[in-house]
Amino acid sequence: MELLCVLGALCVLYFVFQLIRFLRADADLTLLWAELLGHSPESKLSGNVVWVTGASSGIGEELSYQLAKLGSRLVLSARRENELLKVKQKCLEISNLEDKDILIVPLDLTNASTHEAATENVLKHFGQIDVLVNNGGRSQRSLCMETDLDVYRALLEVNYVGTVSLTKHVLQHMVQRKKGKVISISSVTGFIGVPLSSGYAASKHALQGFLNSLRVELGSYPDITISIVCPGPVQSKIVENAYTEKIEKSAPTTDQSSKMPTERCARLILITIANNLYETWIAEQPFLAICYLWQYTPTWAWWLTGKIGARRIQNFKRGVDADSSYFTKKIN
Ligand SMILES: NC(=O)c1ccc[n+]([C@@H]2O[C@H](COP(=O)([O-])OP(=O)(O)OC[C@H]3O[C@@H](n4cnc5c(N)ncnc54)[C@H](OP(=O)(O)O)[C@@H]3O)[C@@H](O)[C@H]2O)c1
Ligand SMILES: *[C@@H]1O[C@H](CO)[C@@H](O)[C@H](O)[C@H]1NC(C)=O
Repeated sequence: MELLCVLGALCVLYFVFQLIRFLRADADLTLLWAELLGHSPESKLSGNVVWVTGASSGIGEELSYQLAKLGSRLVLSARRENELLKVKQKCLEISNLEDKDILIVPLDLTNASTHEAATENVLKHFGQIDVLVNNGGRSQRSLCMETDLDVYRALLEVNYVGTVSLTKHVLQHMVQRKKGKVISISSVTGFIGVPLSSGYAASKHALQGFLNSLRVELGSYPDITISIVCPGPVQSKIVENAYTEKIEKSAPTTDQSSKMPTERCARLILITIANNLYETWIAEQPFLAICYLWQYTPTWAWWLTGKIGARRIQNFKRGVDADSSYFTKKIN
């Protein structure tokens, strides 16, 4: 009897402990356990050759700095070579890396005919690729009924087809070596529906379907891991670089202050890589809670998404920054 009481009390304590952890969490609890008890990126990634796409801005740029600091050799890719040169320069300043440890490979994800040669360049320089971080991508801010089909095609090309193409080339090498890690930055919109981002959500859903299937196909290669990272709102240039109704029209700039700092997101991505986690969610509350609702209680998730989504659409139509006003009632 006494034993039961003790067990009961322990259960209650554990539940309260998990609840407090959850309320304070900025990532799914598995990832946060890995941060606390798992392998550190320092122990797993130093000396590795890591290829980062989208390294010229935002999350990819910050990832490059953190990887440089912990001693990874780097391949930096994006379309804008001049920006990559600046990132390389800063990497060299803040790390012990030498010039030859950082290779710049300009790359357009939408031009798949160049991906094989790019991969060969990297292999010629470093002889191996330990980690591929598929991070380059573009978002969308426009309502479906107002958006040209071209925008839908472009989003699929860059976020989905481009990533599939590069991954296939790099995997050739990893399969030969029977070793490697492919980490793809999806989004919480990779498994959640979000208004103003129907084409973006579709491209990230596609990516996750591809990667989850690929992981099973590579089941006989236990040392090749496929990881998916799903961030919520993070400080970067993603919104101002987003597609809108028309392919050539750019989105307005938005207030970044309420979003997760880029440094924190990058650190959690490195922990995902170091611990070979299959899928992680990196988002502050209440976005994290919404992820859990979508995964485990879809009925409630739909109710809540309808409420929040209606406000987001209303703000968008009134020209109010839809990204910094998810939960604000007052519209000013
Ligand atoms: N920030 C967020 O809130 C958030 C949330 C969820 C997921 N994500 C994902 O995180 C990843 C990084 O985005 P970010 O937030 O850091 O945005 P960002 O600041 O706009 O950076 C995007 C990067 O992708 C590159 N890129 C864009 N189009 C490309 C193309 N056709 N070929 C090659 N590279 C291309 C850009 O470089 P160039 O312009 O030089 O090519 C840039 O380096 C994206 O996959 C995004 O979907 C971001
Ligand atoms: C793709 O890259 C090749 C080689 O650099 C270039 O000749 C071609 O014009 C590019 N295609 C597009 C559509 O940008």
